[in-house]
Amino acid sequence: MQMDYTAEREKIVNKLAQKVKGEKFDHSLGVEQTALALARRYGADREKAGLAGLLHDYTKQMDNVAMAEKYGIPYLTEKTLHGHTAAALLKEKGYVTDEEVLGAIRWHTTGRAGMSLLEKIVFIADYVEPNRDFPGVELARELAFADIDKAVLLVLKTTIGHVVKNKGLIDTDSVEAYNDYRRLFPGEEI
Ligand SMILES: [Fe+2]
Ligand SMILES: [Fe+2]
Repeated sequence: MQMDYTAEREKIVNKLAQKVKGEKFDHSLGVEQTALALARRYGADREKAGLAGLLHDYTKQMDNVAMAEKYGIPYLTEKTLHGHTAAALLKEKGYVTDEEVLGAIRWHTTGRAGMSLLEKIVFIADYVEPNRDFPGVELARELAFADIDKAVLLVLKTTIGHVVKNKGLIDTDSVEAYNDYRRLFPGEEI
């Protein structure tokens, strides 16, 4: 049975602490808190938001290439794999069985076209949680609570921009997501 966020939060946090260490552990708690706040703001399910927020980076510090092979997950770059491997592993262990929660974990790094509200919440919470500190984070935080679709577009634009600048490969799911959200705000200063 899926772990019960409200009843078993302490147990879930202990499991997380065994797999996710240091700053990434603090980051996970930050994403949990921001996901809960965004769920309150937009009327999403708090149990699902809290659980997905806590566990979204569950496999971040594991061997993601080996796991991608094990679960048959195709990938363009190693960086975007951990959302997919986390969803696969958590499902296999039975820790998370809810497909909405799994989707929010799976797509938290790349985003995708047509994200659900829960997927958008975790995607944005990952970027603006309280431990995040970079130029522009305040604007992204404000936008997250003002208009989540605009915030999604801003995050996609910024992250894709970074990848281009660093001469990396752009995940095609992110490109499709960018087009999808840009279409909502054609020509707007985002
Ligand atoms: Fe992540
Ligand atoms: Fe994260």
